[in-house]
Amino acid sequence: MSTLKAVRGTRDLLPPETALWNRVEATARAVFARYGFGEIRTPVFEDTQLFVRGVGEETDVVSKEMYTWEDRARAQSEKAQLLTLRPENTAGVVRAYIEHKLGDTGMLQKLFYIGPQFRRERPQRGRYRQFWQIGAEVLGPVPSGAESALRDAEVLEMLATLLDELGIPRASEANGNTGWKLSLNSVGSSTDRPRYINALKSALEPLKGTLCVDCQRRAETNPLRVLDCKVPEDQPVINNLPKIADFLDEASTEHFARVRSALDACGVPYVIDPRLVRGLDYYTRTTFEFTSASGLGTQNALLGGGRYDGLSEMLGGPKAPGIGFAIGEDRLILTLQALANPESLLKKRAEIYLAPLGTEQNPYVLALAKTLRNVWRPILQTRGFSVEVGEGDFRLKKLFEFAEKIAPLIGIIGEEERAAQTIKLKQFSTGEQFSLSIAELIEHLAKDDIALKALGDAFDGGSNSK
Ligand code: HAM
Repeated sequence: MSTLKAVRGTRDLLPPETALWNRVEATARAVFARYGFGEIRTPVFEDTQLFVRGVGEETDVVSKEMYTWEDRARAQSEKAQLLTLRPENTAGVVRAYIEHKLGDTGMLQKLFYIGPQFRRERPQRGRYRQFWQIGAEVLGPVPSGAESALRDAEVLEMLATLLDELGIPRASEANGNTGWKLSLNSVGSSTDRPRYINALKSALEPLKGTLCVDCQRRAETNPLRVLDCKVPEDQPVINNLPKIADFLDEASTEHFARVRSALDACGVPYVIDPRLVRGLDYYTRTTFEFTSASGLGTQNALLGGGRYDGLSEMLGGPKAPGIGFAIGEDRLILTLQALANPESLLKKRAEIYLAPLGTEQNPYVLALAKTLRNVWRPILQTRGFSVEVGEGDFRLKKLFEFAEKIAPLIGIIGEEERAAQTIKLKQFSTGEQFSLSIAELIEHLAKDDIALKALGDAFDGGSNSK
């Protein structure tokens, strides 16, 4: 019988890699909490119309990449319905905002989410059909301050802080510009955009024939999307098209200037990219992308986002300006893996490997492991590390081999050690061996001494974290 495999473009995430995913998510949750965000969980499938109306019919996401099916009626009282696996989560969050009348509180809503999204794209490194996003949205009625440029800057500053805390360096000459880089633009308000789109249409009219087939269609149906084109031959023409910056009215220009000055005040570096219009139709004013050259190849957009002041109304809701972003978590992980030293002991996910000498030591060693897991709990939790127990039946050589694969330290307990309440330790990184009483072991580790020191060295050398 042929074996079944995960569907193309989807994948299993396994330990030890999942420890890194958890670390990333825990860091994101901690940062979001400091900035006043609460978690929202919306369904993974929604009415197809949500994305058609919210994201835009002419976008690649909606026109080519959605997993949509007709959900048949199961009873006479039910109607058949077109449903779609969410390709992104901003539309879902705004739908929930409207449905639960969150605007009625009069307060700014700061919501974050972590979850899978689905797009039928051509799979490659950093591009999957099921991928994960860590995202956040800030929205609310106008009097809540949701429209303020301060919100844009706060969101961007939070992202810079999050990337810093994850240990992804900022791009600099010193690191060959492999760190993160923020590109920023303003795509104007709903009144600026039609003027720009008209100008773009007129400019494209005589040039259309020289562009790729997709662009010829987009020039008619949605000229802004021409700016997203990646076909190399089209680039010189596209670079010479009119720039949105020349079509912003006073209010949009002022808004964008305020975003920039607040970013300058917070020391968040950025570059202005006049072509950054982003692939989804709901954006107004500020749009942004963070890229990273580490580990990502052509799929170098680590995260993207922007303002969507008219989205709530497009979905039949009240006026609720907002701004948000989504990080491609798969890409964040690839970046972190590329930055880490391959020798990194991140793979060593145990604090210590306890080795019973002889099966008769098993119950005692298991009880000792229980004690250590308890008393070291704060340290183990911070590290996401474990206490591992071998098997008394193993030969000493095998215990050492297994231990070295997963822990920086082995602790051997035979009859003698049990009677004397001691443990024999060997630190693999230095080859050092010593004997300690169990009481000392507990105390030393709690004081971040022996094994944690070895572990700390491995972490500092390996994961680039601060
Ligand atoms: P997006 O640019 O379509 O924006 O996606 C955000 C991020 O998700 C991308 O920068 C990328 O890192 C990741 N991503 C997208 N497609 C894939 C894929 N096929 N495989 C792996 N990663 C992928 C949005 O989704 C907007 N909802 C962001 C937003 C929130 N705007 C305002 N609020």
